[in-house]
Amino acid sequence: MLSGAGISAESGIPTFRDADGLWEGHDVMEVASPQGWASDPELVLDFYNQRRKVALDAKPNKGHLVLAELEQHFEVTVITQNIDHLHEQAGSSKVLHLHGELFKSRSTKDPNLVYQIPGWELKLGDVCEKGYQLRPHIVWFGEDVPMMEQAVGIARQADIFVVVGTSLVVYPAAGLINFVEHRVPKYVIDPNIPDVQPMANLTLINKGGGEGLSQLRLSLLRNHAP
Ligand code: APR
Repeated sequence: MLSGAGISAESGIPTFRDADGLWEGHDVMEVASPQGWASDPELVLDFYNQRRKVALDAKPNKGHLVLAELEQHFEVTVITQNIDHLHEQAGSSKVLHLHGELFKSRSTKDPNLVYQIPGWELKLGDVCEKGYQLRPHIVWFGEDVPMMEQAVGIARQADIFVVVGTSLVVYPAAGLINFVEHRVPKYVIDPNIPDVQPMANLTLINKGGGEGLSQLRLSLLRNHAP
């Protein structure tokens, strides 16, 4: 399954593109691009420090919990564009973070040096073991998506594919559904259904994450459970 910011909306984490979107009055390129980092790293660090504070207060909601529970019946892999850890907190065991992780930092010199951020704060002057500044472990606009290949492999092998809470405007993530086999049932759950090109076996569920996933769970258990 593929999730986006919408699945965390019911936990109180604002999405990016709904009204009151998360960019907090910033141009996205200021706070989420290599150029933004080069011109004002302190602003970027502060932006993600605020995101961490909000995330620390958030709890998984019904949507996250239903997905975790589905592991009792199906082999579930969550591909998420979200940088929070609400899927893991709900109990999902296989979560692939396409766009990075809010509570990790990485060296600006050696991308293999990745660290856990214990609290909410990452500051100028926090350095890796080689002495170079740490940056958020986030995939910014214009950067490669290193997990994409793995995500495509998962989409190709899926027997059921569910998309929840994403506007499907940011690529390459938005294209994942196109790798899913024709015969495979596909579900898109969103209170504001995004543009999806017509495709075989597609069901649109025009609801929020918690309610939509609960409804889908019942129908999956009825129709597909082994
Ligand atoms: N339940 C489910 N979906 C919801 C809910 C809800 N309660 N509330 C809103 N949504 C939907 C919106 O209708 C919208 O389709 O969630 C979607 C959120 O879209 P975006 O804000 O664009 O978030 P997302 O698709 O995850 O963004 C993709 O863009 O900015 C980058 O890297 C960032 O990972 C992010 C990527």
